[in-house]
Amino acid sequence: MNRVYDDERLAGVYQGGNAMPEESLRDWTRLIGSFTDRPSPSIVEIGAGTGMFCSAMARWLMGSTVVGVDASVPMLAQARRLNAHPSVHYLLGTAEAVPTRSDLFDLALLSRVIHHLPDRSRVARELARVLRPEGVVVIRTTFRERLDALVYDYWPRLRELDEQRFPSKSQVLGDFEAAGFTVRTVTSFARPAATSLHEYYARMTSQPQSKFAQLTPADFQDGLRRLEADARSGSRSRPAPVVERYDLAVLVAA
Ligand SMILES: C[S@@+](CC[C@H](N)C(=O)[O-])C[C@H]1O[C@@H](n2cnc3c(N)ncnc32)[C@H](O)[C@@H]1O
Repeated sequence: MNRVYDDERLAGVYQGGNAMPEESLRDWTRLIGSFTDRPSPSIVEIGAGTGMFCSAMARWLMGSTVVGVDASVPMLAQARRLNAHPSVHYLLGTAEAVPTRSDLFDLALLSRVIHHLPDRSRVARELARVLRPEGVVVIRTTFRERLDALVYDYWPRLRELDEQRFPSKSQVLGDFEAAGFTVRTVTSFARPAATSLHEYYARMTSQPQSKFAQLTPADFQDGLRRLEADARSGSRSRPAPVVERYDLAVLVAA
């Protein structure tokens, strides 16, 4: 398993570097919640990280209870510190061996984590185990064929590396279908991730994503300088706010 998130430094900067405007988080949460029609849904987030979506789902999805599972002790420590909520429980565990009983959840969220899970077939079978019949999996990612985030404009090497790391839509759907899931929908959704390029630049200075660990310090600084220059010049060619689009695959358990 990729243990990059065991890094205390990364865990410490993740939430600040990946926060999004409150309205965006609410819109994302409501969209994710719309894929289950069960009242007071029981939800698991796999790879919950610092728990941003766990507490958001507990706040905005009426009556929900949420279990956040993550393989990283430092990320879970941040989740308990930053995103504690009476309806959220954080558990140390993996996508491949979820530490709960079977037939428990109405919805499983995998946000920005599928590219960390090389054995997707095993993960799909494990999710089939913990979901109730007709429970849904929501996979929030960027499929390999659409790696168009702003980060790649400044660090083009990251796009080359992510083209090798991120699975394609057909790979993800195929692995889940083989585990008995049915595809309900595949869509994409975009919301502001930062209110301005300057705010985005300020976030990136802390290297808040695991992908940056693949760059040399010189390559990182090079991209950061170009980003800073654009942020300072208020370049009109850049969108303000900075909008990020994610793909969503929604699959239903048998
Ligand atoms: C990019 S973060 C995503 C956090 C959060 N879901 C979000 O959208 O902001 C990926 C998280 O997946 C966790 N992770 C990686 N491999 C995992 C595995 N096999 N099982 C459980 N969690 C894993 C990492 O520890 C990290 O916290």
